[in-house]
Amino acid sequence: MRAVTWQGREQVSVETVPDPILDRPTDALIRVTSTAICGSDLHLYEVLGPFMTAGDIIGHEPMGIVEEVGSEVDHVRPGDRVVVPFTISCGSCAMCGQGLPSQCETTQVTEHGTGAALLGYSKLYGQVPGGQAEYLRVPHADYGLMKVGTELPDENYLFLSDILPTAWQAVHYAGVPGHRTLTVIGLGPVGQLCARIGRHLGARVFGIDPVPERRAMAERHGIEVLDLGEDGVGEIRERTQGRGPDAVIDAVGMEARGSVMAGVAQRIAGTLPDAVARPVMERAGVDRLAALHTAIDLVRRGGTVSLSGVYGGAASPMPLLRMFDKQLQLRMGQCNVRAWTDTLLPLVEDPEDPLGVADLVTHRLPLDEAAVGYDLFQRKHDGCVKVVLDPTAPSVPAMA
Ligand SMILES: NC(=O)c1ccc[n+]([C@@H]2O[C@H](COP(=O)([O-])OP(=O)(O)OC[C@H]3O[C@@H](n4cnc5c(N)ncnc54)[C@H](O)[C@@H]3O)[C@@H](O)[C@H]2O)c1
Ligand SMILES: [Zn+2]
Ligand SMILES: [Zn+2]
Repeated sequence: MRAVTWQGREQVSVETVPDPILDRPTDALIRVTSTAICGSDLHLYEVLGPFMTAGDIIGHEPMGIVEEVGSEVDHVRPGDRVVVPFTISCGSCAMCGQGLPSQCETTQVTEHGTGAALLGYSKLYGQVPGGQAEYLRVPHADYGLMKVGTELPDENYLFLSDILPTAWQAVHYAGVPGHRTLTVIGLGPVGQLCARIGRHLGARVFGIDPVPERRAMAERHGIEVLDLGEDGVGEIRERTQGRGPDAVIDAVGMEARGSVMAGVAQRIAGTLPDAVARPVMERAGVDRLAALHTAIDLVRRGGTVSLSGVYGGAASPMPLLRMFDKQLQLRMGQCNVRAWTDTLLPLVEDPEDPLGVADLVTHRLPLDEAAVGYDLFQRKHDGCVKVVLDPTAPSVPAMA
């Protein structure tokens, strides 16, 4: 089959690799019909290289049609249309039982001290072959796989795999609807959905991003948008009686713009041999913290900061004096996908499209064009907000 593979810093290529096969009775095999590129994939592309091996199949936002199921998978059958959560969870351990499948005790990657294994997400999360491919083996399909309807386009359902429950969790962790004013920092795909969910749940929502097309997209959904920087922060304060919003979501993560020194450190770590870089990142790695610092600065006293952006630094300095003095509440974590999807399914099927899922994908490309998709998404060229790869589309012949 054809699959998107990580090959090196800012290098992915589509290769022919062996077809996956059923390995355990709880597995299913699916034929992928749509598979998206996520901001988390950009972290693998840029800074998490030391945890990758050339040839790793990446991707964790797939959906498709069931081809085959193991003997213990009985809620889906071959031919069913399904969405695959990016977290691999058993559904029956103590953590899954508490609604925390991203901390699943059956699939935790103890070697690296991390939570549940993830599809296509580096050695840190189990080095499981990912979903940007024609076919995918889905581990723990007995719990994870979500059966969906057959009428609506893939894009209605696809984001149940990751960014929609991620955004829902971020807004829930931000204390909305109890909190009435929300700022979302970063209007990439996750931030777009956070902002729209905040509105759907009745909050007044501000959104900050340096990219004009992303601000324009959020504005279409009733978000008050601002550019990056001090002006944006001051303006939001002014519009919230000088206090700042009740809650702020950081939907940017470890590669925020404006963190000059940490950016240099990340680039240096990226050039070291893996065996040297890995322990450096595990013990001394720092994130680009500009967005998180903005969140802490902007939120009102006693307010809540919710992180959906991914951070990976073991030694990132945090402004604890300010956090303590402002009496902040901080919530974060990898999304507990299946804890939210039953609530979200009727919303993505609603013809009114209350969360605006139909207005997110800017580029649908054949799987073979993955390298173009990664480049467009990373550089934010051509108005790119969300890229979906289509393994069923014929590839476009290269220009002579
Ligand atoms: N917690 C989870 O389970 C989970 C799931 C999916 C994605 N994520 C994370 O969410 C984050 C966002 O993902 P995405 O797909 O939207 O990616 P993205 O890279 O497209 O979005 C990030 C946005 O932040 C903006 N930005 C950069 N620096 C900024 C700054 N200093 N201030 C304001 N805006 C800034 C960028 O212009 C961009 O629009 C990533 O860190 C990703 O890894 C987390
Ligand atoms: Zn993702
Ligand atoms: Zn579990």
